[in-house]
Amino acid sequence: MSIRVKGFLKDVGGASRVTKMRREMIQSASAAPQPGDPIRALADALHPGKQEFTVTKITPASPTSRTFRLEPVNGHIPPFQAGQYINFYLTIGQSTLTRAYSLSSAPYEAQGDKPFVEITIRRNVSYFVPDYFFEQVKEGDVLTAAMPFGQFYYEPLRDAKNVVALAGGSGITPFVSMAKEIAAGCLDCDLTILYGSVKSDDIVCGEQLAAAERACFERNAGLIAAGRKSGGQVRVIHIMSDDPDWTGEKGFVTRELIEKYSGAAGGEKPDTTYMFCGPLAMFRAVSRSMEEMGITPRRFRHDVMAQPGNVKQIPGFPEDQIGKTYQLTVVRGIQKDVIPARADEPVAVALERAAIAIDTHCRGGECGFCRSQLLTGDIFVSPLGDGRRREDKEMGWFHACSSYPLSDLTVKIPII
Ligand code: FES
Repeated sequence: MSIRVKGFLKDVGGASRVTKMRREMIQSASAAPQPGDPIRALADALHPGKQEFTVTKITPASPTSRTFRLEPVNGHIPPFQAGQYINFYLTIGQSTLTRAYSLSSAPYEAQGDKPFVEITIRRNVSYFVPDYFFEQVKEGDVLTAAMPFGQFYYEPLRDAKNVVALAGGSGITPFVSMAKEIAAGCLDCDLTILYGSVKSDDIVCGEQLAAAERACFERNAGLIAAGRKSGGQVRVIHIMSDDPDWTGEKGFVTRELIEKYSGAAGGEKPDTTYMFCGPLAMFRAVSRSMEEMGITPRRFRHDVMAQPGNVKQIPGFPEDQIGKTYQLTVVRGIQKDVIPARADEPVAVALERAAIAIDTHCRGGECGFCRSQLLTGDIFVSPLGDGRRREDKEMGWFHACSSYPLSDLTVKIPII
């Protein structure tokens, strides 16, 4: 398509003609209200934006983790895929923040007469948001959240039917959702979970995983007895890194164990999709194993990682910046605020501390929800999960969750 420029005055004249036509059309239009838009109504039902959930049940999921059941105040939960996440809008003390958690309940549980979703939070050390959920959130409270988000789910058009999940700690939650959905007969894939924990008495969602495994085994009992299947559709292999009494697999989720349980030992390569969710150190080790095994990026999917709390773990972070504080000028529309910002914390954390709302989801630099503009100053952008587009990099846009001040800054953030 080509656009012909007629000359400044003619073009301006054209715009005024269009404005005149528009005014005439508005004046001659019917005064009757617009008819309902069923497509819009369906879109709103599927993606209602923020909604309120009542916390209806809190149960332990291990000695260090708890499952929070949430029921929608308006009675409706938008459809989601096992592996997606929910994003909470929280006010904790003086801070206003958003925090995402993978859903540990299955999609089928969000339908029917008493729909609900669940999240499972682990708190093995004291941390801001987990502390809030463990110490302040109680049954009957109402929380504001939006869902669903994320691409970390099984998609039959894209993924192999044989899925090997590699999980560590609370990274098990998306796979708990998948396992439950498979066990209920609502998802058709074979799921082998290699789950690394420290000790067998602190396995997150251990009972739910065992129940899903049992249900699948019982459903396939006939095929297994006839030798047409070697097991159920869900198989869980627990691996303990520090449990001398554990009689199963010990150590870490290594290449040897991955090959052993994915049928890839002895050079065989069954078509498999590997899905990882867990801490950064484990991600690095698993990525190396994937490379050594010749797994293509298409077959290795991983959940976005939050930036590590300790900046020393970020490759290239200038350690002489640790402990410094800069002045951060924040522009939102016509409003301007000046707040302190530590060099060893992401810009998003400085905003949250000052109760300046910024939308964050992955908190790892990948999703772009916290995309902001750097007007003056220097920042360090973490190379871990830098998901900025090339044009954004060139035009001075950055992701506030994964960028650290290296000087006084002026930034422009989206108004939410
Ligand atoms: S929250 Fe996803 S890029 Fe910042």
